[in-house]
Amino acid sequence: PAPGWSLEADVVVVGSGVAGLTTALRCSAAGLKTVVVTKASLDDGSTRWAQGGVAAALGEGDTPEQHLEDTLVAGVGLCDEEAVRTLVTEGPGAVRRLIETGAHFDTSAEGAIELTREGGHHRRRIAHAGGDATGLEISRALVEAVRAQSIPTVENALVLDLLTDADGRTAGVSLHVMGEGQHDGVGAVHAPAVVLATGGMGQVFSATTNPSVSTGDGVALALRAGAEVSDLEFVQFHPTVLFLGADAEGQQPLVSEAVRGEGAHLVDADGVRFMVGQHDLAELAPRDIVAKGITRRMQEQGAEHMYLDARHFGADMWENRFPTILAACRAHGIDPLTEPIPVAPAAHYASGGVRTDPRGRTTVPGLYACGEVACTGVHGANRLASNSLLEGLVYAERIAADIAERHAELAQPALYAAVPVPVPAPAPVPHPDTPAHPLLPPEARFAIQRVMTDGAGVLRSADSLSEAAARLARIHAEAAGALAEDGKTAEPGVDTWETTNLLCVARVLVAAAQRREETRGCHWREDRPDRDDEAWRRHIVVRLNADRT
Ligand code: SIN
Repeated sequence: PAPGWSLEADVVVVGSGVAGLTTALRCSAAGLKTVVVTKASLDDGSTRWAQGGVAAALGEGDTPEQHLEDTLVAGVGLCDEEAVRTLVTEGPGAVRRLIETGAHFDTSAEGAIELTREGGHHRRRIAHAGGDATGLEISRALVEAVRAQSIPTVENALVLDLLTDADGRTAGVSLHVMGEGQHDGVGAVHAPAVVLATGGMGQVFSATTNPSVSTGDGVALALRAGAEVSDLEFVQFHPTVLFLGADAEGQQPLVSEAVRGEGAHLVDADGVRFMVGQHDLAELAPRDIVAKGITRRMQEQGAEHMYLDARHFGADMWENRFPTILAACRAHGIDPLTEPIPVAPAAHYASGGVRTDPRGRTTVPGLYACGEVACTGVHGANRLASNSLLEGLVYAERIAADIAERHAELAQPALYAAVPVPVPAPAPVPHPDTPAHPLLPPEARFAIQRVMTDGAGVLRSADSLSEAAARLARIHAEAAGALAEDGKTAEPGVDTWETTNLLCVARVLVAAAQRREETRGCHWREDRPDRDDEAWRRHIVVRLNADRT
């Protein structure tokens, strides 16, 4: 069917977190007609939930070189050093430009930006806002700037698929929009440049710090479009997420690493600081090491969680420096002033994603990826804390510059204006050995999450991963069977498309985790407990119907 509506632009930005809105602002400032489409409202998504802050060498005595060093150590041999160098050298300027855009960071009485520490950083390097509400402030500033510049936005718009011309060049995206009046239903934004800034995929697991919109839509779209995706096995589990019960599902409250940065201790039920002696930075070791330390202690003691003890902070510190976390704890009946906080690891960040070059270009001409959805190479096997907002800022600016420079080359109207919008359903879900793929019923979402948490969570093994792969294949086969037998498929809608995307990324993630037969960074294989640099100091790259290492 023909689309219900369509828009024309020079660039369409998909997503409205730090990466998407920064790209949009810079593209618009370069004179490009820019449209932002976003799945929920403009300020939804992961950015607004970021607590700790933005890492950048802004402090006296700190240098990009030291930031580079910490990032490379956290990434355990898999960072792209040039991508990291770009991040850390362009980072301080990008933060200053964010401030010029309107973001207010916490400052000292003398007006200097206050900096805190987080895991893996050997220095105070993390700029924060509102104490522990950095993402909220960044989101506020960027949304206001986008509105002030009257950049067209379409909210409640779930991206379906990339539109391409006969030569395989990017020609826009198809979208499903609900409740936007003139843009209701399936439609399209036609543009020769598409920037994916759709965030992460934390919802592929049962418990995550990610909001409900983080369903891997950008990675699934990119796979269907034939783009390369890399490092999906490296899912970062945040060590300290408020423990709300073993069966807690969906988004869970984060307890920022900055709490440890300011001196909180991780202890077991006996009050023993179990990270001391495991790493020279103890509680402030890189995130994967702390998540492993907690998980090991939980296993040894048969405990469901550990504790974060910050009673010694006192009321002033809690109320002024960590108001968000204090409120979240109290909302769940825990008072961090008088008792240690129960914490356990939960899925937090996809270190991998759609593979890009230093300009943010993916392997599909005209398709860019920025922020968590992208794999620029800066995170390697484990992202250093607070490098993600920075990555969004730095690479958004690079992408906008590249699109502005290439605009004449990309925008040859004959090549994209007449592209028909595809049927109102996503293209088949890619997987090397399954040719037909139906839309999944929304109920399958919970089954997928359970499978992933059971088999591909903090701890993995060949057995757990092959069990997960088999269970995911069964979920697929049931839906495919119904389709083959009586043509029945789930009703197209946001839930079904999201669930279909979740299955797509889950299967590729599990396949990559099976392939990587070693333990490295946040990929922890119980059956292969050691790092194997000889065999595995390389990336697993997946492309539609083909994968290679
Ligand atoms: C945190 O505040 O602990 C999260 C920071 C991050 O994920 O980079």
